[in-house]
Amino acid sequence: MHRIAPSILSADFARLGEEVRQVLAAGADWIHFDVMDNHYVPNLTIGPMVAQALKPHCIGRDGSMAMLDVHLMVQPVDALAAAFAAAGADLISFHPESSSHVDRTVQVIKAAGCQAGLAFNPATSLEVLEYLLDKIDLVLIMSVNPGFGGQRFIESALRKIERARKLIDASGRDIRLEVDGGIKVDNIRRVADAGADTFVAGSAIFGSKDYRAVLEAMRARLGRSAPASRVA
Ligand code: DX5
Ligand code: ZN
Repeated sequence: MHRIAPSILSADFARLGEEVRQVLAAGADWIHFDVMDNHYVPNLTIGPMVAQALKPHCIGRDGSMAMLDVHLMVQPVDALAAAFAAAGADLISFHPESSSHVDRTVQVIKAAGCQAGLAFNPATSLEVLEYLLDKIDLVLIMSVNPGFGGQRFIESALRKIERARKLIDASGRDIRLEVDGGIKVDNIRRVADAGADTFVAGSAIFGSKDYRAVLEAMRARLGRSAPASRVA
């Protein structure tokens, strides 16, 4: 089942709670929360206190809690991963390059009760998956270099998504394949066809005045018509 995870990096930071509520009411599935430390990536965003403040706003249209999908672009990782788990993160992804001990960081995340994801930059090999696919819940393929919203989709990500899909299917495990960066209405279908099931989109959604229209257009391209409640 496809999931759309708006990245609040492109939301109005002065009204984050309201933005989260609005985008979920408009049909989003998850909230993607980009954490940048001005060290691993050349930008600085938001920390665990903001995640904790937003958690009560993460309510889906059916009234259940929407997934708070934390994408750590920080170095070192472990202490912040634990802090985000305590703040209410449901899923925490990190980049293998940013941790000295990748297996240990996965353990830190899982021990804190969260799902764990591994994020791969455009030029990073998927090789570590050989050793970690039995322990993680999500593979995140970056289709831009991390650090900023609004960048252009890097086409070579499609081959990598195909490769990740094969590895996940061969593992037989229930692992989500998320893609992050430059996803728009116009390319989401190709990303899905390559094997992705979870789509991060920041500027495409928050850069529009009508979140619902963008989300519905994305779902239409994904080939699943909107439920009646959303059309009404
Ligand atoms: C980039 C972030 C992305 C980004 C996506 O470092 O991880 O989540 O905000 O934004 P768009 O959809 O604008 O590329
Ligand atoms: Zn992200």
